[in-house]
Amino acid sequence: MTEQLRPDGSLRHLLTLETLSRAQLERLLERSQSFVRPLGARPPMSQALAGRTIANLFTEPSTRTRVSFELAAKRLGAQVVNLEVQLSSRAKGESMLDTVYTLQSLHVDALVIRDAEAGVPGLVAAHLAPHVSVLSGGEAHVSHPTQGLLDALTVYQRKQRFAGLAVAIVGDIRHSRVARSAWHALSKLGVADIRLAAPPTLLPVEDEFAGCTRHARLATALKDADAVMVLRLQRERMTDADLPDGERYFAAWGLTRERLALARPDAIVMHPQPMNRGIEIASDVADGPQSVIRDQVSNGIAVRMAVLQEVLTSRGDAA
Ligand code: NCD
Repeated sequence: MTEQLRPDGSLRHLLTLETLSRAQLERLLERSQSFVRPLGARPPMSQALAGRTIANLFTEPSTRTRVSFELAAKRLGAQVVNLEVQLSSRAKGESMLDTVYTLQSLHVDALVIRDAEAGVPGLVAAHLAPHVSVLSGGEAHVSHPTQGLLDALTVYQRKQRFAGLAVAIVGDIRHSRVARSAWHALSKLGVADIRLAAPPTLLPVEDEFAGCTRHARLATALKDADAVMVLRLQRERMTDADLPDGERYFAAWGLTRERLALARPDAIVMHPQPMNRGIEIASDVADGPQSVIRDQVSNGIAVRMAVLQEVLTSRGDAA
């Protein structure tokens, strides 16, 4: 696993939450909190990253993650370049490493990478010069660290604690980097009761998600839960054999109002998006009073500002 910290202990890369300490997670959440503003208020702006350049290198589709990394960088005064991978020389067979060496030669300070192949962000991080950072914007089914942080921030915002909470993660957990990063963050921050609910082919293999309980029925997972995190069927990572039919899936596993009533009355409903309404979640739940799905998006930019600032201003060189 690529080392994420510099020799002085500061954060250089963010590839996974798995190896961060509770204190490091709390520090990132505290910093994120300082960037949160109510909708309608002017978002925080500064020149903290003036003179820095951030490149977005996404080889899988993205709406929220890519746009919020871009806005986060710009609101901190950095320059941003979005590489259109289909139009770049990677389409002519250039290797990922040659592409990132080019960006390094152009004085890029941080690369945000999303890739369908496990190990790519770490591989890139291991090859770049020491002053360049890599932030994962989603690595295969493995890791999505800024999503894990924004999920933890959203839970904390609504519940003001982690200890004693019950969190149900529902849906295609096996293929979900979101579930893995949420589990790393929440369990380390003190959520002891994490419940995984999915049909057998969508549950993770047995030796993963240590400490979580597994539920073959939605009802037992939802019972008295404080938060319900719903996941999309990630068909792009499935083989034909585990492809569930959307309508049948909704009938057994879709989060409806009736099912949500099994959770605590003040339970929050989360979803990383993109949502498939009528498949994993009913529209009236997604838009209902318990939904914090849009807050998650707002928290995403706060987290990405915090992470960019943490990584690029702890470098030890003069700004
Ligand atoms: C997710 C992703 O790409 O992992 N989206 C996101 O970043 N918010 C979830 C998904 O694709 O289902």
